[in-house]
Amino acid sequence: MDTVAVERLIGISIDKPLMPETYVPWSNTLEAHEHVLPDHLVSLEGMPEYETLTKTQIDEIRRHEVVQFMYSYAWGEGLLNAFLTRQIYNLLPESPQYRFILREVIEESRHQEMFLRGIALLNGSPIPPTKMHAFWGKISSRYFPATWMFLVAISSEYVADAYGREVQADKNMYSTLRKMAELHQIEEGRHIAFTKLYLEKHILNAGFIRRSVYAIIIALNVHFVRTMYVKQAIFERAGVSDSKRLFKKAKKHYRNKFTQYCLSTTIQFTKEMNGFNWITRPIWNRLLNTKL
Ligand SMILES: [Fe+2]
Ligand SMILES: [Fe+2]
Repeated sequence: MDTVAVERLIGISIDKPLMPETYVPWSNTLEAHEHVLPDHLVSLEGMPEYETLTKTQIDEIRRHEVVQFMYSYAWGEGLLNAFLTRQIYNLLPESPQYRFILREVIEESRHQEMFLRGIALLNGSPIPPTKMHAFWGKISSRYFPATWMFLVAISSEYVADAYGREVQADKNMYSTLRKMAELHQIEEGRHIAFTKLYLEKHILNAGFIRRSVYAIIIALNVHFVRTMYVKQAIFERAGVSDSKRLFKKAKKHYRNKFTQYCLSTTIQFTKEMNGFNWITRPIWNRLLNTKL
């Protein structure tokens, strides 16, 4: 592993810490022209049913969906921290790798607190992970080999990075949430850089089978992450009629939207590691509706 590069990342993290307590303008109120999630990231946007909703209903769906995103992400960061802490069994505390992991654990802990504060600010009541999500979350953070778990981490970080970019580009975004996205993106950029350095050697030495396994893990993780955001309960809360049928349609619609807006860097990374082949392409296309 390139220790000079890791030391540089540790240095930036120590010299330029971004404290959610002061970096995020918590007391800013939501202005009349602002909203809490860009239109194109709202699950139902683009469906004919969307046109029949009232502004209040759309704003409710928006609020619940952004809460769900922050909550799911905070939950995932907790799992990642559990895994990262496990690295103490394999590394010596003075090694650059371990010292970066310490910085990452510190930053991910701050992110979790920031997201929870954001949820409280929006009066959110998040829907907990399903049994399936909880089961796989626990299994992966406890038992997955480090390479697999770093692939899970980097694909989640790429997704969050893309989502954060969309949020920041929206001129009508609520200023407090925009600043949260900005902080998160800066720090996640370093986590991505470290994870890439970590994975480099493993990817370089991987043959056809291992590259295929890696690409499948990434696809499964993206599917896992995406299915945490759109929930039938959200439509019920917003008072949308026939929420069950709508939810079924919205899931598919959101899958395509998600692939369009949030997967470009994940696909790029998987391409660079030579992960796409006759085994993995159909799995990606099926799960994520990509056109590989
Ligand atoms: Fe984070
Ligand atoms: Fe991270």
